Amino acid sequence: MRVDFNVPLDSSKKITDDKRIVESLPSIKKVLESGGRLILMSHLGRPKGKVNADYSLAPAALRLAELLECTVTMAKDCVGTEVMKQVLALQDGEVILLENLRFHPEEEANDPDFSRELASLGEVYVNDAFGTAHRAHASTEGITHYVQTAVAGFLIERELLYLGKALQEPERPFVAILGGSKISGKIDVLENLFKKVDTVLIGGAMVFTFFKAQGYEIGNSLVEESKIELALKILEEAKAKGIKLLLPTDVILTAEISATADCHPEMITSIPEGMIGVDIGPLTTEAYRNEILSARTVLWNGPMGIFEIDNFAAGTLGVAHAMAEATAKGATTIIGGGDSAAAVAKAGLAQEMTHISTGGGASLEFLEGKELPGIAALND
Ligand code: 3PG
Repeated sequence: MRVDFNVPLDSSKKITDDKRIVESLPSIKKVLESGGRLILMSHLGRPKGKVNADYSLAPAALRLAELLECTVTMAKDCVGTEVMKQVLALQDGEVILLENLRFHPEEEANDPDFSRELASLGEVYVNDAFGTAHRAHASTEGITHYVQTAVAGFLIERELLYLGKALQEPERPFVAILGGSKISGKIDVLENLFKKVDTVLIGGAMVFTFFKAQGYEIGNSLVEESKIELALKILEEAKAKGIKLLLPTDVILTAEISATADCHPEMITSIPEGMIGVDIGPLTTEAYRNEILSARTVLWNGPMGIFEIDNFAAGTLGVAHAMAEATAKGATTIIGGGDSAAAVAKAGLAQEMTHISTGGGASLEFLEGKELPGIAALND
């Protein structure tokens, strides 16, 4: 079973967010409780094809053992005779975690021999690594050519259910909230969502490219000069398609980006020289809340500001709270992973959302309408 145990670790190798491991438990338990002998494999970080103890999956094995309340054997490698011996020694209902696949350059190169070697360890292949499904690597794509049965696990099933339904047959009104610093990082998602959404709420530093395009002064705020024309095109396209696209009316300004810097709200028509926009303002947060509460489906990808700094987090947290309210009112609320998932966790509202994706890049590519090679390669 390919899982995505690419979890964040602190300097003492403690896992700071075990969501990806926890979300893998239904598939893992299903195999173990059915008497299967389970071989788990994953990558962790980007060790660039070299063995590096900093990227060992051992902390993930320890956490999994705690969650399962059973022994999880940690293999020294992911291929080779020693590993094969350990795998053959497994008893029914036992589990082994292979060492980081990316210690071998063949993993990311999607090398056929390496794929075949991984495949030779087991009889049935399950992919439950949604977070890595956008990578055509040996353990996600290559391996499927050397096994008879290649199926999706419950985590992937759930991701496809929620992200897929939002894109295919959303209950309306369907509101998408897009944030982040760059239009270039979100343009493909926007184009794809334009086919489906009723309303788009825009936040994050990318709003300043839209403002500059409209002729406003933006001070020292982040701007993508090369995307100014694109910003105008997006606004025109939304209008032509009858999509309500909202930009902030006020923003939070600061003279410097630091945890101790002063900040205050200002209308976007009067941003003074030298000031930097770092969050959406209170009027905008309230307006966005009203849109969110009127929706039956809400999809959120990308923070509204620099939420890692408490003084600049109110807009992002306000959106998270509005989404929690919407869930309580019966709406389907979906968080597209990555930074927005971290923001929801910071707000302590993770339990209040219908679905939080375990994918960062993978959910983004899925929302862009791209085929995910790790999923396309499965035969069931
Ligand atoms: C992720 O964290 O997005 C996945 O585990 C994929 O990792 P990668 O971007 O290093 O391929």
